[in-house]
Amino acid sequence: MDKIEIIGGSSMSGQISISGSKNGALPIMVCSLLTNDSLTIENVPDLSDINSMISLLQSLNSEVEFKNNKLRINSFKPKLNYASYDLVRKMRASFLVMGPLLARYGNAEVSLPGGCAIGARPINYHIKAFEKMGVSFDIVDGYVKGKVKKNLKGAQINLPIKSVGATENIMMAATLAEGETIISNAAMEPEIENMGDCLIRMGADIRGLGTSLIKINGKKKLDGCSFKVMSDRIEAGTFILAVLGCGGKVNLKLHDEIVIENLKNIFSFSDKLLISDSKDGLIVECEGGGYSPVNIITKPYPGFPTDLQAQLTAVMTKAKGVSVIEETIFENRFMHIAELIRMGASIKIKGPKVEITGGEKIFGAQVMATDLRASSSLVIAGLMAEGKTTINRVYHLDRGYEKLEEKLSQCNIKIKRLKD
Ligand code: EPZ
Repeated sequence: MDKIEIIGGSSMSGQISISGSKNGALPIMVCSLLTNDSLTIENVPDLSDINSMISLLQSLNSEVEFKNNKLRINSFKPKLNYASYDLVRKMRASFLVMGPLLARYGNAEVSLPGGCAIGARPINYHIKAFEKMGVSFDIVDGYVKGKVKKNLKGAQINLPIKSVGATENIMMAATLAEGETIISNAAMEPEIENMGDCLIRMGADIRGLGTSLIKINGKKKLDGCSFKVMSDRIEAGTFILAVLGCGGKVNLKLHDEIVIENLKNIFSFSDKLLISDSKDGLIVECEGGGYSPVNIITKPYPGFPTDLQAQLTAVMTKAKGVSVIEETIFENRFMHIAELIRMGASIKIKGPKVEITGGEKIFGAQVMATDLRASSSLVIAGLMAEGKTTINRVYHLDRGYEKLEEKLSQCNIKIKRLKD
């Protein structure tokens, strides 16, 4: 297993091109199952999660070409509408194939995704919604077997909590269902809007994108199209927090006004971070050190994202005071805390909250990555620490950050990958 070695203490200066969004690209790749035509997707990050989704689609009789961040997918009728445990367990977003397979072929057998490091991650709201659309389910041997009783029909779906995956799964199924589907309390993450824009370009009839009330009139068929994935706001947010933690000035190259506006909003808490527009994205500047502590609660979009909670925690280990960060989305998203404490951080876990007492220094150490965002939290801590940090099990990082060492090396950071 590869490791990453960081020599901390440098400030950042340079420019970083933000990759396409992982959480945007994954659902758009699944949209290819809704048509026999070719779906071309640009600005797709080259990540292990993307490659896992490619393997899953190929197992469902899709032809996939992936070169220079551009995907071309042709999905033909699968011999079996079956998504195996081996494939689904690697990446929970695999469960998104359930909706399109039910809509196109009337049946699907998908492995229960199971939990992961950050929580149980149930899919009960996906199932309940499809049952309202006329699907009956059996759960046998860890697989969810869905069968459309007569035909998939539109329904009024009220999601009890904001679920990104459930919103996406229902939207995809609804595009080919009979009649109108109304999703209330839909999640509003920009990645959902990006997927909706792609579906509309494929011929879907969707209204209310970007709001929590989405109305979809099912069509008989959808066509192929070409589409460009939005920039990865979580990657960008990770780098902004890195600049806050170690100081410096970085030009983040990204497009999408929505992403840029949201990033400015979620980081408005900082008295030290200067975020301004540049001709090709954002300029992020921070004099380094002496920043105030925070009191932040993670929330569904447009609130502070759970996917940046671990990274923010790392930065607050050197704030001028005590920070409190509350995680409200996942029940176990504190796996990075023990590793940060090993680096000298002073952190207490109190139920869904962490209390971080900022200190003068944290120190490099051997640490273990446990999940995707925890690993990026350890990278930031390594940048801020005195001495050398070696991060083990960086396959977690490779799931969601494209060319991370390259991007940081170009910003005056001493970082290298130790190939196993
Ligand atoms: C998506 O996961 C993202 N993944 C996650 O990013 C992100 O953290 C999460 O949304 C929240 O923003 C992708 O888009 C591929 P949810 P998802 O359904 O869809 C509960 C990363 O680091 N829930 O919005 O799985 C669930 O347990 C990843 O890039 C149910 O109880 O998240 C959680 O507590 C991690 N029943 C909450 O809702 C359900 O049927 C939000 O989950 C569905 C969800």
